[in-house]
Amino acid sequence: MQGNFSYHNPTKLYFGDESLNYLKDELTHFGPVVLLNYGSGSVKRNGIYDQVVAILREAGKTIVENPGVMSNPTLEKLREGVKIACENKVDWILALGGGSVCDYSKAVAASVFYDGDYWDKFWLKQEQPDADQKLLPVGCILTMAGTGSEMNAGTVITDAEHTFKVGHVFDDRLMPKFSILNPKFTMTVPDNQMKAGIYDIINHIMEQYFSDFDDNTSDYLSEGLMRSLITASRIAVKNPQDYEARSNIMWTATWALNTLIGLGKRQDWMVHMIGHSVGAWTHAPHGYALAAVSMAYYRRAMKPGLSKFVRFAQNVWNIDGNGMTDEQIAEAGIEALKNWMLEIGLPLTISEIGATPDMIPGITQGTICYPAGYMNLTPADITEILKESL
Ligand code: NZQ
Ligand code: ZN
Repeated sequence: MQGNFSYHNPTKLYFGDESLNYLKDELTHFGPVVLLNYGSGSVKRNGIYDQVVAILREAGKTIVENPGVMSNPTLEKLREGVKIACENKVDWILALGGGSVCDYSKAVAASVFYDGDYWDKFWLKQEQPDADQKLLPVGCILTMAGTGSEMNAGTVITDAEHTFKVGHVFDDRLMPKFSILNPKFTMTVPDNQMKAGIYDIINHIMEQYFSDFDDNTSDYLSEGLMRSLITASRIAVKNPQDYEARSNIMWTATWALNTLIGLGKRQDWMVHMIGHSVGAWTHAPHGYALAAVSMAYYRRAMKPGLSKFVRFAQNVWNIDGNGMTDEQIAEAGIEALKNWMLEIGLPLTISEIGATPDMIPGITQGTICYPAGYMNLTPADITEILKESL
C-alpha cells in the first residue's frame, strides 16, 4: 500500500429499520432552531416528514422549513437557503431527503457565515472555509441510497444560468454530525432513481478502484462492495420491496464514498467530471449521466490500465480467463459490466437521456479535465468520448 494518509470520519451513523428512534437522543446535542431542508414533496407523501416533525416538536425544537430542494440543487436555491438560515438565525440544519438535500444542507451550512462570495470561494476556487469561520452543524435523514453524501463532505451544486455543475469536497468540519439510514425509507424511491443510485454507487467505487497498480487493501474492500452491490441490485430490480437487498444497497452506498476505499489511492473521477457536465445539460438523474458515458470511457481506460481491468474482470465478474489473453479478459469484464447495466435497465448512451450532438461542445467545455486514473484527457478526448457515447 503506497502513500501517506490520515483517516478521520466524524459522522455518527444509525442504521436499520428502527434507526429513526435515535433522532430524539441526537437532538439533545443541537440548538433550539432547526432549518429543515427537504425536496419536492416525496417525504410528505410517504409519511417520513410527519414522523420527523413529530419528533422535532416533541423535543421542543422550532422548525424553519425550507422545502423545494430540487434534484441536482441549484445555486439560486442555495442563495435562498442561506437567506432563510440567516434571517431565522438557525442553530443547525436537518437534511431530510436524498443526496441532493444532504449536499445542499452542507452547502448552506458552509455559506451562511461567509461574508464574501461563497460560490466563488468554495465552488469556483475550491477553497476551504477559513479556520475561524463559523459553520452550522448538519444532520441527515437519508431517503435514497446512492451518493454517500450522508457520510462525506461533498456538495455538488449546479449554476443553472451557466449550465455548469460543480462539486466541492469540504474538509471534515462539514461532514454530517449524524446520519440516520433506514432502508425502509428508500422503498418509495421511483424505479429510475433507484437504478440511478445503484449505478452511482458502483461508479464511486470504480472511480477509486481504477487508479494505481499497487497491491492495496482499499482495492480488496472495493471488490467486496461491488460484489455485494451487484448481488443486491439484481434482487432489488426484481423486487424493490426486498428489505435485505435495499439495506445492502444503502450500506454499500455509504461505504462507497465515505473516503475509506480511496485511502492510499490517486483515484480517477473523470466519469463524474463528464457526467456532471452531461447532467447540467440534460437534467438526467446523476447516476444515469454517469452510466451513459461509462462504456466509452472505460474502453479507453482499459489499455493503459490493463492489469487492473483484468483483476476487475476476474475478482468482480468471475471471468475465468482460462486460455484468454489479458486483453480478452479485460474486455470480458467490461462486457459483463455492460450486460449487468442492461439487465438492471440503465442507459448506455447519452442520447437515451436527452443529449443531442449540438450539446457536445458545451458539455465538453463544462467538463473539468485533469490527469486522473490511467489517463490524462484533453478536451478533444472528452469530445471523442461524448461522440462515442451518443
Ligand atoms: O425531491 P424529492 O421529493 O426529495 O424526491 C427525490 C428526487 O426527485 C426522490 N426521492 C428521494 N428519496 C425518495 C424519493 N422519492 C420517493 N421516496 C423516497 N424515499 O428521488 C429524486 C432524486 O433524489 P436526489 O436526492 O436528487 O438523488 P441522489 O441521492 O442521487 O442525489 C443526487 C445529487 O447528489 C450529487 C449529484 O451530483 C446530485 O446533485 N452527488 C453528491 C455526491 C457527494 N456528496 O459526495 C457525490 C455524487 O457523485 C453526486 O455527484
Ligand atoms: Zn456520483
